[in-house]
Amino acid sequence: MYEQEFKETIQLIKKQDEWRSRTINLIASENVMSKTARAMAGSDFAHRYAEGHPGERYYRGTSFIDEIESQLKANLKILFNCNHTEVRPISGTNANEAVFSKFVKREDVVMVNSTPSGGHISHHRLGSLGKFTQNLIDFPLTKDGYHIDIEKTKFLIKSAKPKLIVLGKSLFLFPDPVQELSDLCNENNIKLIYDGAHVLGLIAGKRFQDPLREGACLITASTHKTFFGSQRGLILSNMDPDNWRKIDRGAFPGSSSNHHLDTLAQLALCTYECMEFGQEYADDVVANARTLAEALDRYGVDVEAKEFGFTESHQVAVNVRKFGGGEKVSKSLEINDIILNMNMLPHEPLKNHDHPDGVRIGVQEMTRFGMKKDEMEKIAELMKECVVDHKSVKEEVDRFRRNYQDVKYSYDDTVGKDLK
Ligand SMILES: Cc1ncc(COP(=O)(O)O)c(C=O)c1O
Repeated sequence: MYEQEFKETIQLIKKQDEWRSRTINLIASENVMSKTARAMAGSDFAHRYAEGHPGERYYRGTSFIDEIESQLKANLKILFNCNHTEVRPISGTNANEAVFSKFVKREDVVMVNSTPSGGHISHHRLGSLGKFTQNLIDFPLTKDGYHIDIEKTKFLIKSAKPKLIVLGKSLFLFPDPVQELSDLCNENNIKLIYDGAHVLGLIAGKRFQDPLREGACLITASTHKTFFGSQRGLILSNMDPDNWRKIDRGAFPGSSSNHHLDTLAQLALCTYECMEFGQEYADDVVANARTLAEALDRYGVDVEAKEFGFTESHQVAVNVRKFGGGEKVSKSLEINDIILNMNMLPHEPLKNHDHPDGVRIGVQEMTRFGMKKDEMEKIAELMKECVVDHKSVKEEVDRFRRNYQDVKYSYDDTVGKDLK
């Protein structure tokens, strides 16, 4: 009865694959898996359950995933130089919820990055954190909007007495001041956590910052933005065993039951790629973001944070108000097969949410497809022709992108060469 619809859905899946292979994807929260890791989707693990920890499962039939999960945890401990890893959250939001559920009590004050300054919805009153407390206060910022004002923050910490401080954000150009705030937090028994969802791959590649060494008690993250995938969440920490036991409970049974074993197995593969190629990749990502920002700036586009060198991460923030705002610009780029998202900028009031001034650009995915500085110059030129000159660049985008189809920083040329 539904055979026709079934076929149509298959066609939509195929169309997505075909279309996105022609686009320049600049969404800062996305990435692609290597051909080899991607080919492992849909293994038998996609059908299975394994609650609990390796060796202590509630279900039988888990010996292979036990081995994979144990290896993954051991590798993450090496990669991030930490004692504890929680790999069961199936997304970054899930990882945050596991932590918030154990560290935040009703009426506790929590200090976060505001939404316009880049705070994620899971740190918001309407999101995961809001389930546990509504008492959220924002970090005071310096005038440029991209840095936390440390002196004002210290003053606010002393007067508002937060129980938890959440650093890290979604619009994330420069490192957050973990080190600068950690002593004050330790003295006042405040837990300082770092949401590294966006920058996990840069941290793995020894770029950006090293939150655990700088004084964060834990890192939560997504595994698929600058990290190589698959789409999951993580918690990493060096904290004492009693507190870590709470996090363990927060992850299971707190915020998940089964933990999606097929993507877990893929994450184990992607983590090896990060261990081998992560530093070279992270260096290239940061260099590419800076190059793209500089090129857009030369074209007269208002790239944010110019006085600080535009960016130290995978992201570039652009004020496109003079071209009609983020919604209009992101739509006209999409018509030309350049994909990115509109974004609020730090100077904007919350009411601008649906029609913000900005767009956010991420270069990590195109870097993974082997693009370097010359290609960033080309992308800037295509964007300028579309947004500033109102030209159609779709055909040129498709032609250009055809040359970048293989996922680099991977074992695809060796281990994966026989996979189709
Ligand atoms: C800072 C931050 N934290 C958490 C998340 C949530 O991650 P996920 O989409 O994996 O739930 C995001 C997603 O964009 C994010 O930017």
